[in-house]
Amino acid sequence: MRLSNKNAIITGGAGSIGSAVAERFLEEGANVLIVDLDQRSINSTVNRLKDKGGRIDGFSGDVSKADSVKEMIHHALKFFEDGRIDILANIAGIGPFSKFTEIKESDWDRTIDVNLKGTFLTSQEISKVMIKQGGGVIINMSSTNGILAEEGLAAYNASKAGVILLSKTMALELAKYNIRVNSVCPGFIKKQNFRMRPVCRKR
Ligand SMILES: NC(=O)c1ccc[n+]([C@@H]2O[C@H](COP(=O)([O-])OP(=O)(O)OC[C@H]3O[C@@H](n4cnc5c(N)ncnc54)[C@H](O)[C@@H]3O)[C@@H](O)[C@H]2O)c1
Repeated sequence: MRLSNKNAIITGGAGSIGSAVAERFLEEGANVLIVDLDQRSINSTVNRLKDKGGRIDGFSGDVSKADSVKEMIHHALKFFEDGRIDILANIAGIGPFSKFTEIKESDWDRTIDVNLKGTFLTSQEISKVMIKQGGGVIINMSSTNGILAEEGLAAYNASKAGVILLSKTMALELAKYNIRVNSVCPGFIKKQNFRMRPVCRKR
């Protein structure tokens, strides 16, 4: 098992990709805290994954709010018995679809707040913990949309491009503390079961 005794926080952990990542991490022996907005989705994900390997817990929080991120870390440091956070996977994301000329300011703000600012806030706070403990790994979810434009997704595309350069800058600044930072850029992922609505399709 490649992640025995590692402690991981997965934001968006009740969503399609986040819960699949949580499942795989648990199977590899990690202890996992999933963070998401809706307590019922969190509970059902925790129940579904509780016998997969490592310990799992859930926390209802909003990655775009600094106070909520601090509470999340407080919760994590109590749940992870050795008080370490070895891995942060920033997977929470949204992608409201709209023609460029019709994007509402509120949709623009929320997309940048969740996808880009949320990645910044969680990474900044958790990197402080990682620096103290001597290292860690941060994985930021970008997208092919951060490299190639797709119509109807200007805010999403811009946020995911931002995640790529944020990750590169974090990698440069945090390497000296033994913190490895990467962003991943998947294309559209066809899910095995369509329980959840894909984040960036037309509604
Ligand atoms: N599905 C795809 O094809 C695809 C492709 C490339 C990248 N991505 C990215 O992967 C990530 C997950 O996508 P998905 O398809 O699993 O979507 P999803 O909607 O199933 O999961 C996203 C999760 O993030 C949560 N979330 C949203 N705002 C949040 C907030 N403020 N705080 C905490 N949690 C919040 C949602 O509640 C949801 O559970 C996203 O960042 C998305 O942009 C998805």
